[in-house]
Amino acid sequence: MDVLPMRILFATSEVYPLIKTGGLADVSYSLPIALKKLGHDVKIILPFYRSIKDKINSESCHFEGKVFGYIGDIKIYSTFLSEEHPIDVFLVDAPDLFDRDGGPYTDALNEEWGDSAYRFTVFSRVVAMLGNNQLALKWVPDLVHCNDWQTGLAIPLLQLEKNAPASLFTIHNLAYQGNFSKEEFDHLLLPETWWSIDGIEFYGECSFLKAGVLNANWVTTVSPTYAKEVQTPVYGERFDGILQHRQEHFIGILNGVDYQQWSPQIDPYIDTHYSINNLEMKGLNKEALQEKIGLPVSGKIPLFGMICRMAYQKGVDLVIESLPNILKQDIQVVILGSGDIYYETALEKIQKEFPNKLSITFGYNEELSHQIEAGSDFFLMPSRYEPCGLNQIYSLSYGTLPVVRNTGGLADTVIDATDKNILDKIATGFVFNEPTAIQLVAAVNRALKVYRKGKHFRQMRLTAMKQDFSWEKSSLEYEKLYRLAVKNVKNNKRN
Ligand code: ADP
Ligand code: GLC
Repeated sequence: MDVLPMRILFATSEVYPLIKTGGLADVSYSLPIALKKLGHDVKIILPFYRSIKDKINSESCHFEGKVFGYIGDIKIYSTFLSEEHPIDVFLVDAPDLFDRDGGPYTDALNEEWGDSAYRFTVFSRVVAMLGNNQLALKWVPDLVHCNDWQTGLAIPLLQLEKNAPASLFTIHNLAYQGNFSKEEFDHLLLPETWWSIDGIEFYGECSFLKAGVLNANWVTTVSPTYAKEVQTPVYGERFDGILQHRQEHFIGILNGVDYQQWSPQIDPYIDTHYSINNLEMKGLNKEALQEKIGLPVSGKIPLFGMICRMAYQKGVDLVIESLPNILKQDIQVVILGSGDIYYETALEKIQKEFPNKLSITFGYNEELSHQIEAGSDFFLMPSRYEPCGLNQIYSLSYGTLPVVRNTGGLADTVIDATDKNILDKIATGFVFNEPTAIQLVAAVNRALKVYRKGKHFRQMRLTAMKQDFSWEKSSLEYEKLYRLAVKNVKNNKRN
């Protein structure tokens, strides 16, 4: 058996705690840590956004020079992932592309950057150059692991060189494809032959996601169920055919979570630590949360939490439609979200009608997100689709029972409270099938029924808290694919 450590370059557009808009940042933090634990030499590469510049004091410059298609000089700095996890993070500094107010994908007003095709082409060129040892960094990876469309181009760019390392591409969300017009493609100075059906042309545009999916040695997505779903037209976002074509090298690996960050025993953000041995202490977090968000403080009233990007994916519209019905009962709902202003306005309107029952916080708030996980009784996640989803897994760890739709990673992580599952003591949440308000309300009502019958509720909480979704198993699956890819690339070079 091959046990030699591998050198892995992990390319991503966000990494916790440096920059985060969603679950990709969490995975880009916790998977490299797990790979390092397996003995591998992992380095991360990320654009040097302004918000990271504001956070970091000491960084050293490893490269300064030209990159094809970019007029100025590119610099590469580095920092560590965190004090506890001193994994190198290379930061690609192209100030006119990344040193701006706003987020990685949108400006301060939440409008998408108009030049992201160019921004992430330049970033991908740097990733490919590093991968091909063209930056004199004295470190050459055996494999480049790219994530989502922002790094998709890096894979065929790498392969322009004869001795390119192996590659793996992970789809965290198939709906985001990085599709751009022919005119834009022409400006990017990519090889002209790429504009073809076997290249990155995709329904009259070019697709950066397709670049990764077609060319990587292995393609993964973040749960087994989503991997199956996306090969059908309903979930395939027009990629179902391409993914079927790659099915021999396409697999779903469930995301793990980092329990150092998301455990009620040690979470530094929460009011009172607790575990399965003193579950009653969870109630203190509920009271602290109610007080903080301005809802009546009461241990008895069931509290539903929700934390998400306010996007169609997350079923926010289903929640909006259900709330007037749900809130007629004696319950409370706390929502933390950022994103689409349309949803914010609709939620604000309902909040005015039910000021003592509904609390809404807009914006990104790491601390509050932990407090909602710890303080709520239930967690709402009625996603229309969900590649993996991390919040429902965090909820399990906090004994906050998830109410989820039967899709993607939600289906792979939550066990429905059927009578039998409750009796067998394996139930961990409430699962419904169709993306309708009627079914969501029915699932909430089932949750309330269990809440009132205290015994089963406690048992479900204990079962939920005992679930183990750490990276141990999933990182081994990645390791296996890395080895296959590296071996395959070596064999091809020999022949
Ligand atoms: P996605 O990546 O699709 O947004 P995930 O469930 O995989 O969904 O991951 C979302 C991550 O982002 C979680 O860590 C969640 O706590 C966090 N998050 C989402 N919205 C917010 C917010 N408004 N404030 C703080 N954290 C948030
Ligand atoms: C995406 C998906 C989410 C997944 C996350 C991390 O943002 O929407 O389901 O958990 O990536 O892989």
